[in-house]
Amino acid sequence: MDDQYSLRFRGPHLLGIEGLAPYEIQDLLDRADACVDVNRGLADRRDRLAGRTLLNLFFENSTRTRTSFELAGKRLGADVVNMEVATSSVKKGETLIDTAMTLNAMHPDVLVVRHGESGAVALLARHVRCSVVNAGDGLHEHPTQALLDALTIRRRKGRIEGLTVAICGDVLHSRVARSNMLLLLAMGARVRLVAPPTLLPGGIEAYGAEVTTDMMRGLEGADIVMMLRLQLERMQSAHLPSIREYFRLYGLTRDKLANAAPDALVLHPGPMNRGVEIDGVVADDIDRSAILDQVEMGVAVRMAVLEALAGPEAKR
Ligand code: NCD
Repeated sequence: MDDQYSLRFRGPHLLGIEGLAPYEIQDLLDRADACVDVNRGLADRRDRLAGRTLLNLFFENSTRTRTSFELAGKRLGADVVNMEVATSSVKKGETLIDTAMTLNAMHPDVLVVRHGESGAVALLARHVRCSVVNAGDGLHEHPTQALLDALTIRRRKGRIEGLTVAICGDVLHSRVARSNMLLLLAMGARVRLVAPPTLLPGGIEAYGAEVTTDMMRGLEGADIVMMLRLQLERMQSAHLPSIREYFRLYGLTRDKLANAAPDALVLHPGPMNRGVEIDGVVADDIDRSAILDQVEMGVAVRMAVLEALAGPEAKR
């Protein structure tokens, strides 16, 4: 086995960015880069996952992530099955482990799982024989989102290392922020977390990111401004005086963006709350916003992950 081959992402699961070596992240980004043309219809790779089965199991709502995994699987020729949790036995009280064992008996090659509880996807992975991809677990991780953000940044800026990335908003409830912070720090970027004091997880500085509650200071000279959705559905109590006040202090407007680098790029994982965390004018500015690029890169990244886990070179 030559070095080139061994220095690749080998799975067997993708449960988080934590624990991935920089070379594995690099490998997934390189593979995803090559998938962009396939996704655009410029190359045919339907043989890569022919005969393989991908099961999408979403316990939480999702539009873009589920569709993106479905498209990615189909572009590579896999059979894709979407399990509707609302109509499954989960609603009848079946435990997560029972569900996992039942699905396992159907011999899928990859299970893509989203769940409202942090750690649930890793637990499920211990009870199945196939590869498991975490499509978001509670407040914990959302690794393919971080990878697609990184691919978007790399393609638009030519690099990740040395860039200053401001991750702004509801950091406390965001698995996207966590996975992005881990990936960007691993790849040599400078990360600033910017949030109101009530939306910052305690002790987060320990990971090596800078932390500030001052939006203008957080944006200063940033090359990338990543906005987060205010996740009201995860808030048990009032974390904010009002939405209007939040927008005034932390909403990304043209005025605030002027504090970032002149060629700063704006990202948002979606779904977006216009007028809450981001002004529609900024979101729609084609010179500054990479939000639709992110959606496109999402399919390429998921193709790369599926191919790495279940393609012809995957260990099985
Ligand atoms: C994110 C998620 O679900 O964590 N969205 C997504 O995957 N497109 C972020 C969010 O819901 O705000």
